[in-house]
Amino acid sequence: MASPNLPGPPHAPPPAPSKIKVKTTSPIVPPNADRAPIRTERLLIRPFDASDAEAVYQLRKQPEVMVWTLVGVVDKDVNESRAFIERFLPPKDLNTFNFVVEYLGDASKSDDADGVVIGAAGCHKVHSDSGWPEVGYLFRKEYWGKGLATEFLRAFTKAWWALPRREIELEVDAASVDELGRGKDEVNDGDVIRVPEALMAMIEASNGGSRKVLEKTGFKEYKSWTEPDSRAHYINRQATLVAFLLRAPDS
Ligand SMILES: CC(C)(COP(=O)(O)OP(=O)(O)OC[C@H]1O[C@@H](n2cnc3c(N)ncnc32)[C@H](O)[C@@H]1OP(=O)(O)O)[C@@H](O)C(=O)NCCC(=O)NCCS
Repeated sequence: MASPNLPGPPHAPPPAPSKIKVKTTSPIVPPNADRAPIRTERLLIRPFDASDAEAVYQLRKQPEVMVWTLVGVVDKDVNESRAFIERFLPPKDLNTFNFVVEYLGDASKSDDADGVVIGAAGCHKVHSDSGWPEVGYLFRKEYWGKGLATEFLRAFTKAWWALPRREIELEVDAASVDELGRGKDEVNDGDVIRVPEALMAMIEASNGGSRKVLEKTGFKEYKSWTEPDSRAHYINRQATLVAFLLRAPDS
């Protein structure tokens, strides 16, 4: 999620985002066992299984993919991919809504791919640093440029907003509250205001492909900042990060 190509002197990390307590809604995430697979024109989007480690390693051993992630480097063996998958298996499935993405082929091109695993994608953190749930995605490089990430994200967000919800109080990034329309429908209950629920995503500023996927799915940029690259292999580099929000439909 941060670029390795931005040389620059180290500097103090930016202050943590100022937070505001809000009233909003939050999804009640079902366990993997209760999630129906999602079928799109060319994809099958299904819960993780421990047996996916080898297929996920094929994705996570590609440097062109991993350079855009928080770790920044490839998994050195299948055991590292297994550890990655465990973050989305029971009991941790209740804190995530992350999926394996299989390519089923393109009927219009007589391309029958028979369910090859091409991606790992979805909500990997229900409580991100911004306070909002965070979405992310990784796709094998052989499948880039075919509209598959956009096809995934459109189907994923539809499933996300269809989950049952509960009312909650949440501490969220103040900048996100400005984006969501602070002051609208304010609740005079102490300092707590009501805002529409949002889903967030974060990219490195030079990740033009990922920006396009987010924008095509309706996400809006709400903030960007530069900070020291936090990844072990990128000491003395800086990264410019951009945060996006997708607000709940009809809000
Ligand atoms: C980013 C990623 C998910 C995109 O997947 P994809 O299946 O190729 O995405 P799509 O084909 O749906 O859409 C990509 C769009 O970005 C455009 N694009 C690609 N590279 C671009 C670039 N460098 N600058 C601007 N636009 C770019 C494509 O032309 C396409 O737009 P179009 O549909 O208008 O032609 C994929 O490249 C990937 O997995 N990258 C590595 C991991 C990663 O970056 N994850 C996101 C971390 S925030």
